[in-house]
Amino acid sequence: MERKFKYEVMKEIKERWSPRAFDEAPVEKDELMAVLEAASYAPSCFNEQPWRFIVADDENKLKRLRGILAPSNQEWANRAPVLILIASKKNFEHNNKNNKWHEFDAGTAWGFMALEAQRRGLITHAMGGFDKEKAYREFNISDEYDLITVVALGRYGDKSNLSKELQEREQPAARKGIDELILNV
Ligand SMILES: Cc1cc2nc3c(=O)[nH]c(=O)nc-3n(C[C@H](O)[C@H](O)[C@H](O)COP(=O)(O)O)c2cc1C
Repeated sequence: MERKFKYEVMKEIKERWSPRAFDEAPVEKDELMAVLEAASYAPSCFNEQPWRFIVADDENKLKRLRGILAPSNQEWANRAPVLILIASKKNFEHNNKNNKWHEFDAGTAWGFMALEAQRRGLITHAMGGFDKEKAYREFNISDEYDLITVVALGRYGDKSNLSKELQEREQPAARKGIDELILNV
């Protein structure tokens, strides 16, 4: 595995990765809203737009959102100035039947969010490591929604705030070659 692009792709894809060294400085409201708007323009099955965002950018909400993170994520994500819990509506609005694609679509929204953030000089890091049951209780979220991931958003900060172990992991991850991803069936 390596991180070497063979083909020309957009700059934001090439440059995005998932850092942990967040600067604590707040993200401007307009920047935050633009990133969420970018996410809202993701395509979705029946244009359902199943994604919902629980946004923490003030100390009170941040405290509550930090409280649902796995300790291994709290270690670094507690410095992020914005945390976004992505929920996703399980059923279609038009017929109340199960939407089998809602997680796929919420994932697309996260991708759009990450790339718009990158374009604006912001960094993002998604986390599956959080306590779902605690999150449902803490934010009084209805079971109409699945809780997908928490995203840390902010700007790159000082790597020396991280533990030695995390400092060593503070680099873009490698990728499988595209040849490995095409199933020759
Ligand atoms: C759905 C999802 C869940 C993830 N969960 C965590 C997590 O709980 N903690 C963490 O440190 N990184 C987490 N990551 C980050 C991945 O480890 C990272 O995206 C992957 O190693 C690829 O690295 P890159 O984003 O730097 O290219 C998660 C990423 C995604 C998309």
